[in-house]
Parts: sequence; C-alpha cells; structure tokens
Amino acid sequence: MNPLKKIPVIIDCDPGIDDVMMLLLAFSSEDLDIKLITTEPGNQTQNKTIYNARAFTSYMKQDIEIARGLDEPFFRVLEVAAEVHGESGLGDVILPEPTLPESNRTAIDAMKDVLLRSEEEIVLIATGPLTNIGALFLAHPEVKKKIKYISYMGGAAIGGNMTPTSEFNVYVDPHAAEIVFRSGVPIVMSGLDVTHKAYITLDEIAEIEVTGTELAQNICSLLKFYIHNTKRTAFHEEHFERVIRLHDLCAVSYVITPELFDGDDCHVEVELEGRLTAGTTVVDYTQRTGLPQNVKVLHTVKREEFVQQFFAAIKKMDHYNKGEKRDET
Ligand code: BDR
Ligand code: CA
Repeated sequence: MNPLKKIPVIIDCDPGIDDVMMLLLAFSSEDLDIKLITTEPGNQTQNKTIYNARAFTSYMKQDIEIARGLDEPFFRVLEVAAEVHGESGLGDVILPEPTLPESNRTAIDAMKDVLLRSEEEIVLIATGPLTNIGALFLAHPEVKKKIKYISYMGGAAIGGNMTPTSEFNVYVDPHAAEIVFRSGVPIVMSGLDVTHKAYITLDEIAEIEVTGTELAQNICSLLKFYIHNTKRTAFHEEHFERVIRLHDLCAVSYVITPELFDGDDCHVEVELEGRLTAGTTVVDYTQRTGLPQNVKVLHTVKREEFVQQFFAAIKKMDHYNKGEKRDET
C-alpha cells in the first residue's frame, strides 16, 4: 500500500466488548483515516453504546466525531446482550469519564454529510446491527455511490448464535440488514463462519496480561468477562472454555490486511420471518437463486497473524496512550 495514502473509513458500532477491541485495532492502524464513529443500539442501549464509544475513544486519546444513532430497530423490540457484555456493555471495566463530546449531528446526518462531501469513496466498517445504515440508505440513497464497500461483522452461512441459524447483529434488526444487503453496495461479510476461527486463547491472553500496563489489564479484564459470560450462556458453542472469538476485529482487520482472509462471492439475503429463522443470512453457495453475487462471504483467517496484529495494536496504543512516540514497526 502507498504509505501516504490512507483508507478513509466510517465506523458504525455498538460497544460492546469486542467492539472496543475493534476500535483499538482501528485507532492503531496507520492505514486508516477514521472520518466518523456512529453508534447502534445492540449489545446495549443507544445511551450506553454511545457513552462507551466516547469513553473508549477519549481513553485512547483520539479526536474523532462520535454521533448518536437510532434508539430502536426498525420493527423489532430491542434485545440487548447484557448477559454477554454486562450491564454497562463493557463488562466490569470502568473507564474514565469521556472528554469527547457527543456530536451535535445525528449519526444519519453525519454519515450523509461525510459521504457526500468526500472526494474519494469511503469504506464503511459496521460491527453492530445495521439500523443506522438501513435508515441512511432509505433516507439518502444518493450516498451509496460514495461507499467503496461495507466491511460487516454479522451474519453466518452455517450456524447462528441467537437461533440455530441467525447471528446476533442481524437478528437484532433483520429488516435494516435486508435493506443494506439488497442495496447494491458491495459487502464483505465477516460472519460467524470466519469469526469463530478468529479466536484468542487463554494462554495468549496471559501474554498480554504479563506486560502489566493499565491498558493491558483493562483489555484482559474485558476478555475474561467475555469468556466468563460466554461460558454461562453458551454464546460460543465449541471450546468455549478456552478461547474467545474476536468477532468485530475481523471487520477492521479485513480492511487493513485483506490477505489474511479468504472467502467466496455469493448471493446473500436476509430471512425476515420464522421463529427459528428470522435474522438468518441465507448464503446461496450453490447458486440456486441465480441472483447476483452481492456479498463476499469470508470463511478463513490466518489466525496467528491476526492475533499478532491485535498484540501489536495493544502495544502501539499503550505507548500512544502514555504520550510516547508510536512504535512504527
Ligand atoms: C456480534 O454480536 C455482538 O455481541 C458482538 O459485539 C459482535 O458484533 C457477534 O455475534
Ligand atoms: Ca458488535
């Protein structure tokens, strides 16, 4: 990549434990120019996810606009994931009060303005339900041509974590997801097929912990909270007692290092109905529909390199957070 040319991105998220790890990776990257952060209701309510986004971004000493998204999914009653991410959304870690203010623009206005004013195409990174982006596409369809692609953590080709087939982010607001999936904007889907392979082990967490810094301790507390609670809820179904899936990091990692991932171009639609199937991303691997391939469905990640990328991000941000010069390696 041209070292002077950064990739302009907007990040839409619902922090959320793995969402703040995703933000950390994005903040650490020299390749990204983060134009805006917007928040979704999902892992917790809108009030809590925007607070967490502001608190973590302030803690990481980043000066980025953070805009409030919608409060509720299009039609369904909001179901939060307090049993996985805690009552605050960030486990039992208490970050300092945010210094960054909430934007005076709504998420939808801010996304529209940033996209329409940009001279180059922007990558949308989305790691929560798609309520804001669905609403943006309905209200301002002209923005679609300014989006290079959406790197999305959500969905699953095979096996869900909310119903037997639906994944949390799509399950929370399937109607918004359907609008986005049939928008014509290219999507790269980091669904559970790949994010279940993007895990970190307890031994690897111990390697982070041994550095002993405050950031490392907070990261480890968050990860341990996640594993503790995923054990109780069986949110992760296999090896759940030994590994933690870093779902949302995949969406950023793909943008900065696509060579770590492999996937297939497929037609994907979101199922809106059904006690067991609402919120399922139906991946047409066998081309039964004959419809255009609208999504790159990731299925493989080079796990060790992905984890090293996460370690490097923690190290970099630890220095940065203390006001030291960033390690450029
Ligand atoms: C997704 O659900 C949320 O709880 C996580 O933050 C992630 O975005 C995984 O299914
Ligand atoms: Ca998330």
